[in-house]
Amino acid sequence: MMKQQSLHIVTRIFGKLGELPERDINLVNRALEAAREAFAPYSGYHVGAALLLAGGEIVTGNNQENVAFPSGLCAERVALFYAGSRYPGLAVIRMAIVAMKDGIVQESPVTPCGACRQVMIEQESRGGLPMEVILYGSREIRVIERAADLLPFPFIHL
Ligand code: THU
Repeated sequence: MMKQQSLHIVTRIFGKLGELPERDINLVNRALEAAREAFAPYSGYHVGAALLLAGGEIVTGNNQENVAFPSGLCAERVALFYAGSRYPGLAVIRMAIVAMKDGIVQESPVTPCGACRQVMIEQESRGGLPMEVILYGSREIRVIERAADLLPFPFIHL
């Protein structure tokens, strides 16, 4: 018999940074700093990601482009892979992502690409703790409870 399933995802929406808890404001500010230092001469789209690890460390990353376009990498994966190499045993418990176009912070929250979502959910599963994701925009901030909510039915088999 055919069955139907609907998926339920909870996100919290804020209008401005000051409405978030202090710890989240700090993480968003670190992502903003990282975005300013991105290497994105080809797209002019600067993205920053800041990760809070279970040990309290903060790791940041930004997009790194290359003249051979597909060789570049998104901010989220730069940060996550660095965290994985530098602090292999530590869960990432929170991640803030910010994007700037031609020096101006985007109004709508940035939403990570599919490849980054795949890396985020595997990091979350490795860490064994939910990874809260803060998608920052200057007019709207969206907070997702766990990375897995961003990618239903991911590839997990091998
Ligand atoms: N980019 C990111 O770094 N993160 C995202 O979530 C979306 C896209 C980068 C890739 C490329 O350097 C530029 O933004 C334009 O796509």
